[in-house]
Amino acid sequence: MTTVNSQFRSVVLGVGSYLPEKTLTNDELAKLVDTSDEWIVQRTGIKERHIAAKGETTSMLGEKAARAALANAGLQADDIDLIIVGTSTPDWTFPSTATQIQAALGITHGVAFDLQAVCSGFVFAVATADKFLRSGSHKRALVIGAETFSRIIDWEDRTTCVLFGDGAGAMVLEARASTGSLDERGVLTTHLRSDGRHRAKLHVDGGPSATQTVGHLRMEGKEVFKFAVGKVTDVVADAFAATGITPEQLDWFVPHQANRRIIDMSAQKLGIAPEKVIATVHLHGNTSAASVPLALSVAAADGRIKQGDLVMLEAVGGGFTWGSALIRW
Ligand code: ACO
Repeated sequence: MTTVNSQFRSVVLGVGSYLPEKTLTNDELAKLVDTSDEWIVQRTGIKERHIAAKGETTSMLGEKAARAALANAGLQADDIDLIIVGTSTPDWTFPSTATQIQAALGITHGVAFDLQAVCSGFVFAVATADKFLRSGSHKRALVIGAETFSRIIDWEDRTTCVLFGDGAGAMVLEARASTGSLDERGVLTTHLRSDGRHRAKLHVDGGPSATQTVGHLRMEGKEVFKFAVGKVTDVVADAFAATGITPEQLDWFVPHQANRRIIDMSAQKLGIAPEKVIATVHLHGNTSAASVPLALSVAAADGRIKQGDLVMLEAVGGGFTWGSALIRW
């Protein structure tokens, strides 16, 4: 069997998530803009999204998801020495959302920082944490995706406001000695890509340096759709090629939860059977960096993802950025 070359491997000890209490259904949205439940469900599969309460910030959502992941792992906050938060909707321009979560968890050792790769943020953060853990520099990581996209949505633009929601998800990873066998638990391989030429297709039209405003999300939906289905699959193919694992051997495919049609078309293109696809987009819409850990939490909690399963994570986001992570759960 093929082996992955490292002394350590990053093993998943637990996952957790949090969705704000307030929901916004498609029917409720239809009272704000000219849209319908039928249009939204048919085009995206989304039925409702959650919206953070006034004063409820990204770090607050992230902290709740982190506490859920720690409980699931049977660990205390103090056991963590690395926190990486994927987010494009930080509480503040600075300090980072990660340091706010670190403080909220009462952790005063180790290091915490944000990582900005939009909807790919969680997969990029898993890959980054994996490199820290495999280097031996850190022992246990909290990898978090947390977003309040409701704060950067133009609520008068029906082409975007129906797609997004708020939420957070988290994963605890621990560095464990490894022989390199693909049968051992942990992150087996990660593949990240970006191409900065596509800014116009998906961006926020504000920022501290450019406009001194927060701005609103702008998107050429059709172009993003084409890119997501056409391109993303290359990083999943790279993960298969790097390990010799085949789509048939995979137990679960957990893609970015942006749109049910993108999810299904990507799986089909990759030769991954529909029953192996985890889709939770109907429950929370596109929560950007929080979407993959939200889906993971649901599938781990309901017993679908079990220890020893082969799980492929995949995401694509603004930049464009895209990436994959293959994990023996
Ligand atoms: N309700 C009703 N009608 C709408 C709505 C709406 N919310 N939004 C657009 N329409 C109309 C359009 O105005 C258009 O009308 P027209 O024909 O009279 O001009 C018609 O519906 C069709 O619009 P299209 O843009 O062609 O619809 P499409 O089938 O492409 O679906 C969608 C739009 C859902 C945005 C799709 O392009 C998509 O999913 N793109 C990917 C976007 C995405 O997932 N982004 C996530 C962020 S990036 C990421 O996470 C990777």
